[in-house]
Amino acid sequence: MKIAIVGTGYVGLVTGVCLAAIGHDVTCVDVDEEKMAQLGAGIVPFFEPGLDELLAVQRQERRLSFTESHEAAFSGAEAIFIAVGTPQGIDGMPDLRALIEVARAIGLTLANDAVVVIKSTVPVGTNHFVRELIAEHLVRPVTVQVVSNPEFLREGAAVYDTFHGDRIVIGADDEEAARLVEAIYQPLGIPVLHTDTRSAELIKYASNAFLATKISFINEIAQLCERLGATIEDVARGMGMDARIGEKFLRAGIGYGGSCFPKDVKALLGMAELSGYSFSILQAVERVNYRQRLLLIEKLVGRLGDLHGKRIALLGLAFKPDTDDMREAPSLTIAETLLKMGAQVVGYDPVSNTKARHVLPPAVELAPGAEEALGGADAAFVLTEWEEFTRPSFARLFTRMKAPIVFDGRNCLDAAVLGEWGIEYHPVGRGAWV
Ligand code: UGA
Repeated sequence: MKIAIVGTGYVGLVTGVCLAAIGHDVTCVDVDEEKMAQLGAGIVPFFEPGLDELLAVQRQERRLSFTESHEAAFSGAEAIFIAVGTPQGIDGMPDLRALIEVARAIGLTLANDAVVVIKSTVPVGTNHFVRELIAEHLVRPVTVQVVSNPEFLREGAAVYDTFHGDRIVIGADDEEAARLVEAIYQPLGIPVLHTDTRSAELIKYASNAFLATKISFINEIAQLCERLGATIEDVARGMGMDARIGEKFLRAGIGYGGSCFPKDVKALLGMAELSGYSFSILQAVERVNYRQRLLLIEKLVGRLGDLHGKRIALLGLAFKPDTDDMREAPSLTIAETLLKMGAQVVGYDPVSNTKARHVLPPAVELAPGAEEALGGADAAFVLTEWEEFTRPSFARLFTRMKAPIVFDGRNCLDAAVLGEWGIEYHPVGRGAWV
């Protein structure tokens, strides 16, 4: 099938490459000239395991192309996927400007019937709004249906998730349009759920908000573990063995970050408020998540007292491993707070040092490696569970610190190995609070 994808961020590019890989003829379109030039040359503009290789194969087989022209991309396309960003606006709700621009462009340039598939995360009711907007701008007598098809892939596992997703949600008011989208995904063999558009839009927010709730819940249990002398991993394992609870997303630590959970939780709170409902659980989820980001600093102050002049090494800056994404990374709040408290901050991330430089305060030093970051530090925070930090051989590097005191915000280090090197270790949610 001939498919156009508008927007080449994580969702758009991964979808484009994967749909090409299952045999579709895909054209990706984006207004970002630099990005299009990079992609045209086969370069993925962000870090995502496995994507470069798959992109190279699809370009070679000529099933995937890139253009800056909407008209060229839409020409003959049976389906147009919209995957543009909907970042958080100043009012906390998603900023739909890019989406509105695309809807206008579709209306003004479309010369054949097409199904528009909205993959971007959008507030409930947006699919109807987009359908009306396109209809208002149509200049040719063509038929356009709009289908909601939310995305559930994770950064860092985006390609895997696209091929092995748990479900594909198709929200449509027109049955034929829904069947066309189902046919596109059919080679993947993933279960499909058909709903109306509003329910599909809400499924996306409800899913992310529920996962965020799981994380904040386990983080509160971790707080209790520290106070009551229990061990969070054992508690989480025991809970997760109950199939009704499930073992995933019960890793305690410094809370969730990234471009999705914080933004989607806020947007759902906003939607609830606009509808006249106060979503109490979700308000608490957000509060707990923010408090959790400051947990290591609270512990550090409990251990060292005044932080003036203390040198603190931050290991891992990205919001999670296998990505260079710094959006809403806990490291940002932590670095800013430490600086305000008079500490010196030095950071290191295996992949996102360059991106981090643009978003961290200039006073934060960036080290070329973990060894350099740790040299002379009074304490270290592990903020991202990169594989590099979890290797047993890594533990030796902590001995380069002035005093080897480690606060592990992801519980990813091996306490026994650190103990062998005489390193003082403070994980989250294990036993007594320091
Ligand atoms: C999340 C969802 O998992 C995807 O299903 C969804 O498609 C995506 O948002 C989106 O809306 O686009 P992502 O933000 O890439 O994906 O990352 P996750 O792996 O879900 O992690 C999110 C955050 O939660 C990270 O900061 C991670 O460290 C934290 N987390 C995750 C925990 O603190 N504990 C856990 O047990 C799991």
